[in-house]
Amino acid sequence: PQFVKATTLRHEEPHQDKIYYFFREDNPDKSPEAPRNISRVAQLCKEDKGGTSSLSASKWTTFLKASLICVDPITKGNFNWLQDVFFVPASNWRESKAYGLFTNTWGSSAVCVYSFGDIDNVFQTSRLKGYNGPSPEIKPGQCAPSGQHTPSETFKIADSHPEVEARVAPLSPSKSPLFHNKHRYQKIGVHEVSAADGHRYNVLYLATDKGSIHKVVELPDGVQNIMELQVFPRKDPIQSMILDHKRAVLYVGSTREVLEIPMDMCRAYRNNCDSCLLARDPYCGWANGTCQSVYHNREVLQNLNSDLKRGNCQKGDIKEADFQNITVVPFSRYYLNCPIESHYATYNWYHNNSLIKTCNTTHPQQDCFHFIQNVSHGHYGHYMCVSEEDGFKQALVKERLVNQLRFLSQKGQATTTFASWLQLLLVVALVELFH
Ligand SMILES: *[C@@H]1O[C@H](CO)[C@@H](O)[C@H](O)[C@H]1NC(C)=O
Ligand SMILES: *[C@@H]1O[C@H](CO)[C@@H](O)[C@H](O)[C@H]1NC(C)=O
Ligand SMILES: *[C@@H]1O[C@H](CO)[C@@H](O)[C@H](O)[C@H]1NC(C)=O
Ligand SMILES: *[C@@H]1O[C@H](CO)[C@@H](O)[C@H](O)[C@H]1NC(C)=O
Ligand SMILES: *[C@@H]1O[C@H](CO)[C@@H](O)[C@H](O)[C@H]1NC(C)=O
Ligand SMILES: *[C@@H]1O[C@H](CO)[C@@H](O)[C@H](O)[C@H]1NC(C)=O
Repeated sequence: PQFVKATTLRHEEPHQDKIYYFFREDNPDKSPEAPRNISRVAQLCKEDKGGTSSLSASKWTTFLKASLICVDPITKGNFNWLQDVFFVPASNWRESKAYGLFTNTWGSSAVCVYSFGDIDNVFQTSRLKGYNGPSPEIKPGQCAPSGQHTPSETFKIADSHPEVEARVAPLSPSKSPLFHNKHRYQKIGVHEVSAADGHRYNVLYLATDKGSIHKVVELPDGVQNIMELQVFPRKDPIQSMILDHKRAVLYVGSTREVLEIPMDMCRAYRNNCDSCLLARDPYCGWANGTCQSVYHNREVLQNLNSDLKRGNCQKGDIKEADFQNITVVPFSRYYLNCPIESHYATYNWYHNNSLIKTCNTTHPQQDCFHFIQNVSHGHYGHYMCVSEEDGFKQALVKERLVNQLRFLSQKGQATTTFASWLQLLLVVALVELFH
């Protein structure tokens, strides 16, 4: 076997404390459609000292192994190569989790999350593969309190049947990968951050084989890839990654160098309220005119729980100045135009924070237009075009359509208001003429 990671876990009783191993080995199933490697979890009781008789010496009775399932439910694609594991402890050991990073033969990756409660359940309840005989007094896999005699029968069965029949599935309710994509990730790290709303969010750091790191966040409405960070400009492969949970710092090493990277890199969002909130980075939020870290200011504005409620930016301190003011007379036509820069992105137009149009690029040269046939009261307000690619969001165009009449009268220019009434009549007349 090739070992990937191991951990110890305290159970209720000290004699039940266990060691868990995560590893790959050759698949005993040699049929042509079966994968050649299989990924597994194994358990061993910490206090299992092995037998004392000549036959059982240096043999364990508590070692059991099970297969790990990581399958995309839609394509049935199997991620069978366990690449790395990251443990996330919890105060109740059953809720402790193992984040398994898997790859497949096509170079795609998937993250499957297993709870130690589920793993333990499989070892406690499953039959042994290939064993139909009666259960001995102490079953293989059962941690015996010290001093208790283990029958030789247990040794015999454990030796010839180390595998359980049931397989370990990812966490309920989905029982499927947390996500999968076309990158070949090498390492995984998970950090829990407590955001301004008081909730805790898990942030995944995934090292690619090209010297970059992807930051992926588990949000209530799904998993979002929020940042790609090129750590080593020469694309040196990342050899190791260590998380300092307390200081919220990441250490990344190649064969040449080691870098220290803060997890709360809020300056990456260009000090722009929309970019800061759209990123949905739980470490960052908007306050006092800057995109800043929750570790410096707990009162920042964030947008983690709801889908694109950009109203936040306006209610907080949105920069009105970010929006280009455009005066448009009522009953005229108006085009909103968003330049399409990438064939892979989706472009969305929002009006007063509601989605009004989605363009995806079946016709790559064309821009994403929104056409207003006949401008009326409801058409005024804030428009924003947001591009989204691979989870990365960006506000490209921001326009505020202003009713020309109101715009001028606000300035108290009574005479001009009269003039603009004339202008309006002219426009209406022209529109009528064209009809
Ligand atoms: C996994 O499969 C490869 C070939 O695909 C083989 O060389 C290797 O020995 C197998 N076993 C392990 C434990 O990696
Ligand atoms: C905002 O900035 C001002 C001046 O820079 C400072 O006095 C104030 O404490 C800041 N407020 C917050 C909430 O950070
Ligand atoms: C647009 O008008 C608003 C309200 O009058 C103002 O606060 C903002 O600075 C203006 N934006 C620009 C880019 O001039
Ligand atoms: C493009 O739009 C269509 C319908 O508008 C949608 O079904 C499809 O999923 C979209 N494709 C992408 C890549 O977003
Ligand atoms: C525009 O809307 C107004 C009021 O809703 C209507 O009177 C007018 O005929 C419309 N003009 C066109 C060109 O559709
Ligand atoms: C959008 O907001 C503007 C002003 O803030 C308002 O005049 C307009 O009626 C709003 N339109 C919609 C559809 O909410």
